Amino acid sequence: TVLYGVIGDPIRHSKSPIMLNRAFRETGINGVYTAFHITEDKLADFIAGVKAMGIRGVNVTIPHKLNIMKHLDEIDPGALAIGAVNTIVNDNGRLTGYNTDGVGYVRSLKEEAMPDISGKRVLVIGAGGAARGIVYALAGERPERITIANRTIDKAEELARSFSSRAELQAIANDRLQEACGEADLVINTTSVGMYPNVQDTPVGKGWIREGAVVSDLIYNPLVTRFLKEAEESGCRIHGGLGMFVHQGAIAFEYWTGRPAPVHAMRETVMASLK
Ligand code: ATR
Repeated sequence: TVLYGVIGDPIRHSKSPIMLNRAFRETGINGVYTAFHITEDKLADFIAGVKAMGIRGVNVTIPHKLNIMKHLDEIDPGALAIGAVNTIVNDNGRLTGYNTDGVGYVRSLKEEAMPDISGKRVLVIGAGGAARGIVYALAGERPERITIANRTIDKAEELARSFSSRAELQAIANDRLQEACGEADLVINTTSVGMYPNVQDTPVGKGWIREGAVVSDLIYNPLVTRFLKEAEESGCRIHGGLGMFVHQGAIAFEYWTGRPAPVHAMRETVMASLK
């Protein structure tokens, strides 16, 4: 049996074990995936444990995506640019960190809502950790431009600066959000605004986004946020956050096993567990 797991603090609500164990069952791989509650002060001990026990793969979630990096032997260039690791691959004791969040998001978006991002005007709302991975991955898709809007404009400016060599990037404060919404082909909420239990909140006003645009939310609890519901009522195509979660796990699975992930079964299992 090959061992896998996810670390975080807190971790008990993670859907990763259910999703990855289904993936192993579905593909006939003899693997077991479990959740480990690891606090900050135990990260180094955990890494020693991974090496001692030969744990093949680890997912990393909040709050360790940044601090785990100093414990690894190698960091993939994408993860280094993003400044966060969510997936570790253990090759005979040598640990490499990757970031599958942004690429997972883009795969999900292409599959479910926008097959071709090239030439599109993209608006990203929020400039936190999640936005970083997504902007990095979207910048590789040759969009016309990516506008980053944030309550704290300094953070939007910093994010725009860090990837300005990869795409046309622009930072704005939230007071210009309405205008930016009207010009975008794709609007993505990366903030926690609208997440359970604050389901009445939304990051934009009703009718700000033009008909025919694609509107995407990283939140998957609720599966359809107020932001998405109102966009759909305005004639937009909507894309929820579940796909990103499924695909970041699918790409991790592919790194660990070298096999294509059973994405459909993985999604079905997570969906069933949310009901
Ligand atoms: P994550 O890892 O999920 O991206 P984060 O790094 O804490 O979390 O970033 C949260 C993002 O949501 C930030 O862009 C934050 O805006 P600030 O940079 O101004 O703090 C944004 N955010 C969170 N709550 C918000 C709210 N009530 N209104 C507007 N923006 C909010």
